Order: sequence, then C-alpha cells, then structure tokens
Amino acid sequence: MKGKFYGIGVGPGNPELLTLRAYKVLKEIDVLCTPKAKTEGDSLALSIVNQVVEREFTLLELVFPMSRDEQVLKEHWDMAAQQVMELLNRGQSVAFITIGDPMFYSTYAYLLKRITKDPAVEVETIPGITAFSACSSFLNQPLAEAEEKIAVIPAAYDLGHIRETLSKFENVVMMKVNKAFDEIVEVLRELGLLDKGVFISRCGYPDQFYTRDLESLVGQPKDYMSILIVKKAGWEGLV
Ligand SMILES: C[S@@+](CC[C@H](N)C(=O)[O-])C[C@H]1O[C@@H](n2cnc3c(N)ncnc32)[C@H](O)[C@@H]1O
Repeated sequence: MKGKFYGIGVGPGNPELLTLRAYKVLKEIDVLCTPKAKTEGDSLALSIVNQVVEREFTLLELVFPMSRDEQVLKEHWDMAAQQVMELLNRGQSVAFITIGDPMFYSTYAYLLKRITKDPAVEVETIPGITAFSACSSFLNQPLAEAEEKIAVIPAAYDLGHIRETLSKFENVVMMKVNKAFDEIVEVLRELGLLDKGVFISRCGYPDQFYTRDLESLVGQPKDYMSILIVKKAGWEGLV
C-alpha cells in the first residue's frame, strides 16, 4: 500500500500558531520534506516545526530555486515530485511543510498537482494561518469590515495592476513587497494613500516589526517576509 502524502501549513512564524492537526500528523509521519530555496538560507518552515514538535525527523530537502525561468522551475518540481513518489511507493508517509497556508502562494501547489496524478495516493492538506491574517491580528486591526472589499496581490513583478486594484478595493494586501517597495511607495504617494499603508516584516518572529512611516523605509533593504497593507478607512489607534 502506498504511503499517505500530507501538505502542512505551519503558520506565519510563531510556532504556537501551528494547528493541533499539524502537530499530531508531524508527530507520526515517516519523512518530512522541507522546501529550501537556494537563496533563502535555512528552511523557515522547519525551524518553526523544530520549536514545538519534539522528535527527530527523517528529512528530505527539496530545492526550489527562486527563479522565474519556467523551464528551470518545472525541472525542479518534477524532480521533487519524483523523490516524494519514490517514498510513497515504498509505503512511507510523507509531509511537505510550508510557511503560512499551503494553498496560498506556496510551492506545495506545484508538488500537489504532480502527486495527485497518481489516484492511488491518499492526500491530506492541513491549512495553516496565512501571513496576512497573522499581520492584521498582530496589529489588532480588522482587515475588512461590513461591505468593504479586500484584494490580496503579489506585489513583486508586474506593478501595472496596482493602481487599478487600489482604486477598486477599500483594503489591499501586498505580498512579496520587499523588492518593489520604493516603486509602490511612489504610487501610494501619487494616489494620496501614503498615510493609509502599514508595512509589517517577519510577523510572528522575535524580530517582528511594523511601521506606518513608509517613507522611512525607502532605499533600505527589506526582509522577504514582509507585507504592506493599505486600508483606506485608516488605522484607528495605530501609531
Ligand atoms: C511565497 S509567499 C508564502 C505565503 C504563505 N503561504 C502564507 O500563507 O502566508 C511569501 C510571502 O508571504 C509573506 N509572508 C510570509 N510570512 C510572513 C511573515 N511572517 N510576516 C510577513 N510577511 C510574511 C511575505 O509577503 C512573503 O513575501
């Protein structure tokens, strides 16, 4: 019989935000797969797990390069899926861990598509607390209320859509803002929304940080684990 495949969201950074289901499965699985991006250092997801799940893991490190080359990415996802399938075919249970939620901007989706090609493999995806949700809780500020609409966008590549999104939605969450931050600040200034944004970095980690003074960050290096939230109604009571 083939082993079961799990996709586990480990939450945004604070290990106490790991779900009970994730904790239980992590205690039992045979092999733990960790995503490792060549440019990102040690796996953050694994460091979160290691802080709360007391056991030794048999690890399978899967390398996903931070490349935008479709061919390079496809080759790595194919290779990763093949490695996982070999274990599953031997009857071992395998879990792939990912920061935040596995179904939200995660490499897990690419792996999942390949694993589910084999209908004999049982799959369970365990949701995790997504980073933008953790950010609004950290700020003690609601993300959307009543009739307000909210958009979540990757603000890393094509910034052409940002103006339109900002005009249509009362609340906009921008993921992956570290690289294009200065350009985004320029757009917010033009639209008169500069004082409506909050930048949150490494939410849930000991060095978590936020500021409403977006201009103070222009030209500064920023952590990849950063989000910018624009809330047109303003940030009541947030300094
Ligand atoms: C590849 S996406 C992963 C999203 C993740 N699956 C989730 O559910 O939040 C990476 C982006 O998530 C955001 N992110 C993840 N963890 C974060 C954290 N602890 N604090 C702030 N932003 C975070 C950043 O915008 C980062 O560039």
